[in-house]
Amino acid sequence: MLEKIDRLLSLISELSVKDIQELETFRIRYMSKKGIISELFEEFRQMPASEKKEIGRKLNILKQSVIEKYDSYKDSLSLLPSSPRLNDPSRPSFPCSLGTRHPISIVRGEIISIFERIGFSVSEGPEIESDDNNFTRLNFAPEHPARDMQDTFYISRISAGDSNPGDILLRTHTSSVQVRVMQKQKPPIRTISPGRVFRNEAISARAHCIFHQVEGLYIDENVSFADLKQTLLFFAREMYGEKTEIRFRPSYFPFTEPSGEMDVSCTICGGKGCNVCKYTGWLEVLGCGMVHPAVLEASNIDSTKYTGFAFGMGIERPAMLKYQVNDLRMYYENDLRFLEQFRSAF
Ligand code: DAH
Repeated sequence: MLEKIDRLLSLISELSVKDIQELETFRIRYMSKKGIISELFEEFRQMPASEKKEIGRKLNILKQSVIEKYDSYKDSLSLLPSSPRLNDPSRPSFPCSLGTRHPISIVRGEIISIFERIGFSVSEGPEIESDDNNFTRLNFAPEHPARDMQDTFYISRISAGDSNPGDILLRTHTSSVQVRVMQKQKPPIRTISPGRVFRNEAISARAHCIFHQVEGLYIDENVSFADLKQTLLFFAREMYGEKTEIRFRPSYFPFTEPSGEMDVSCTICGGKGCNVCKYTGWLEVLGCGMVHPAVLEASNIDSTKYTGFAFGMGIERPAMLKYQVNDLRMYYENDLRFLEQFRSAF
């Protein structure tokens, strides 16, 4: 088995890939569920324990080199090789045409403007966060699956395996800004936090490892679920049109109790049913709830005196609906043919 791994290692180091098709063949051959690496790991599982140490080490080196090979080609072989790009050095420098706003910036601007009109301020926080602000102070139990390496990009971990409040990561949601605001400000707090978030997801037309969210937080004396509903109804009608209806479904988030998800009547068919809303008449737009007392207490806010509501929504999805973009990857491709189509006051 060691010899086999060595042979594969040298094969991979010399291998060159010409185009996207060849890269896909490489991926299937080595990295797929039934590919060479999985097969070797399967064989490895059956081996006697005495041989496992050395072979396991080699096998991991092999797996790593396959991933590195794939990643290095993936970056250079683009999905749209002939598209004009922002960083194309052969583009003439003059005359230069006026740029356009990115669709995500336009929709973010719309959301901010709606909440600013009803007294919300804008607060921002860093993309590199502590586990403490991203998880612990938001009432995530130590073994909560969202902390798992599968979802979170860790930058440094204090102890291998177990998560620790001192670990540093790329924030997985903008809820981390809630914690920062609560630590700095005393109630009443009425703020929204737009920003970029990161999750370790395979990139496809419907998912990306980078996306954008807007978080909302309102804390004061006597804030109730009725305030949450009225605020979000106002938002939905401003954003999606005055005939828009909303509905709430119960849900679970560690940092809110009770928690809900809000749907709006489908912006395409008005609720009659179409293929965008999968014939339900509703589109899911955000998560929300009453701030959990443990979250208030973790940031030294007296939960016997104050209550609050919070909500969080993605920006990509409403932007896809608004502009009928059907592939998330378009937002990050820097393709001018795509970007030049967006003009707006925001
Ligand atoms: N942080 C949640 C997510 O990324 C979204 C969310 C849900 C934010 C409910 C909230 C909330 O503030 O109350 O999926």
